[in-house]
Amino acid sequence: MAQQDQQQGSTAPPLRLGVNIDHVATVRNARGGRHPDPVRAAHLAIAAGADGITAHLREDRRHITDRDMERLKAELTRPLNFEMAATEEMIGIALRTLPHACCLVPEKREERTTEGGLDVVRAQNALASHIGALKDAGIRVSLFIEPDREAIEMAAKLKADIVELHTGSYCDAALDNNADKVARELSRIVTGAELAGALGLEVHAGHGLTYNTVAAVARLPQVVELNIGHFLVGEAIFTGLEGAIRHMRHLMDMARRGSAPGA
Ligand code: PXP
Repeated sequence: MAQQDQQQGSTAPPLRLGVNIDHVATVRNARGGRHPDPVRAAHLAIAAGADGITAHLREDRRHITDRDMERLKAELTRPLNFEMAATEEMIGIALRTLPHACCLVPEKREERTTEGGLDVVRAQNALASHIGALKDAGIRVSLFIEPDREAIEMAAKLKADIVELHTGSYCDAALDNNADKVARELSRIVTGAELAGALGLEVHAGHGLTYNTVAAVARLPQVVELNIGHFLVGEAIFTGLEGAIRHMRHLMDMARRGSAPGA
C-alpha cells in the first residue's frame, strides 16, 4: 500500500490548498466593526502557503459581506474562489466581481453550514443557465456535490469545469470514531474522484477537513485542490493562523508524496 501511495504520489499533479476565510468574518461580525479583518487573514494565508482564497457570500451575509468580496478581488495576488448559492442575485454579483472561480453550493438559511451537496439532477435547468453565464464571463465553474455517480455524471453533462466533492460525511464519521463509516465514506470519495477524473472534470474536495482527515483525501491523485476553513480558523486560536496553515500544508504535501500515515 505504501508503495502504491508512493507511485500515486510521484505521478499526481500538485495539490493546491484553498483557505476559506469565512469564519474570520464570523468572529469580526460577532462584535461588528472591522476586527479581525478577513482580507488581512487572506494575505496571511497566502504568505503561509495557501494557493488561493475561498469565501462564501451567503444570502444572509452572516460572515463575508459584499464589501469583503470586492476587497478580496481587488487585493488578492492568488485566485479567488467565490462560493455562492445558485441564485440570480449571486450570479449578478459574481459577474460584476469576476472571481477566478465560482463554486455553486446549496444554501438554506436555517443551516449552520453547507449540509450536503447540490441536487444537480433536480436543479439541472437552472444550473445549465447559471454555468453558461459564468463560463461566458471567463469564470471557472465548480459544483459542490456529494461523491455520487448520478451527481458527477450530471456535472459533466452540464459542462461544469470542476466538481468539489463534499467530504463532510467522511469527516463526521472520523469525529465519531466510526471506523466502518469512515471506510465507507472514503470509498465513496475515492470512487467519485476516479469517475470525475475519467469524465474530464477537475476534482476538488472539502468540508470538515482537519489534520486527522486530510491525508486520506490529499493522496488521491485526481484531487488537485482542497478547500479548508473552519478547522484552520479554530486551530488558529491555539497556534496562530500562519502556523495552522503551514502545518496543514505540510500534512497535505506529505500525503501527496506518499509518506503520511493513513487517516
Ligand atoms: N468547500 C465548500 C464548497 C464549502 O461550502 C465549505 C464550507 O464553507 C468548505 C469547502 C470548507 O469547509 P470547512 O470550513 O468545514 O473546512
